[in-house]
Amino acid sequence: MFFKNLKTTIFEGIIIIEISRQAKLNALNVDTLEELKEAILGLSQNPEVKAAIITGAGTKAFVAGADISEFQGLNESDAYKFSIRGQDIFALIENCHKPIIAVVNGFALGGGCELAMACHFRIASAEAKFGQPEVNLGIIPGYGGTQRLTQLIGKGRSLELMMTGDMIDARKALEMGLVNHVAKDKSEALTKARILLQKIMTKAPLAIGAVINCANSVFKQNLDGYEIEATAFANACKTKDFKEGSNAFIEKRTPKFIGK
Ligand code: COA
Repeated sequence: MFFKNLKTTIFEGIIIIEISRQAKLNALNVDTLEELKEAILGLSQNPEVKAAIITGAGTKAFVAGADISEFQGLNESDAYKFSIRGQDIFALIENCHKPIIAVVNGFALGGGCELAMACHFRIASAEAKFGQPEVNLGIIPGYGGTQRLTQLIGKGRSLELMMTGDMIDARKALEMGLVNHVAKDKSEALTKARILLQKIMTKAPLAIGAVINCANSVFKQNLDGYEIEATAFANACKTKDFKEGSNAFIEKRTPKFIGK
């Protein structure tokens, strides 16, 4: 498979999917998201692939969020579809019957943190940084972040991160249970992920698929949270504050929010 914004390599049954838009800190534009969808559907069906690692190209960023330049001019209905599309693609990752580990090698912000959280678990390099800074732009997480962050670290800590927009480092993420392991650097994190996947690959694949499905089902009693998130995301995208927040980012200045 040829991708423009992803690099994929398969070795000993493990596919490494590297998000590769380094000039934009691997931000997820629509093309990249669509490629990611294709890669996940492809690996689910490819008998040569038993497991996957998702990481970011280079060492500065895993993914620094959804591509803010594509937010310009989103109306309410586009924004709702934008959120649902991302949620659906990340649900493919979460529900994949083959194990998928995120190796978080730098900034995992906004959609990047959401992508890492959609993976079955996460290994961070020491330089990784996590956050949901959407409120700085006048919007909210829209790719499942309000739900998965709360599931993973609990409501109080999740709300603090989403309300402040603060970043946390790998150690703090480990302490909160957002990541399972912290490695010295990206290379060590990849090695750790490989070792764990090699062990998982010695187990019965149907049993692995079943534990993924069962663990996911704990959180599926009430799917409405995702619907509420997409609607709230679309509402946020209608506001003047959101236009101001995204313009301010592009123009490299501090936003002035007015509450409208
Ligand atoms: N969308 C689009 N472009 C992005 C981006 C994003 N989410 N994150 C970074 N970029 C781009 C920058 O605009 C810049 O492009 P330019 O060189 O053409 O101006 C390039 O990536 C490098 O980023 P820069 O901001 O110069 O790097 P930095 O080291 O000073 O700061 C961050 C790194 C991650 C702190 C900063 O880029 C940032 O805050 N990014 C946005 C994070 C965010 O809000 N994500 C959630 C979006 S919903």
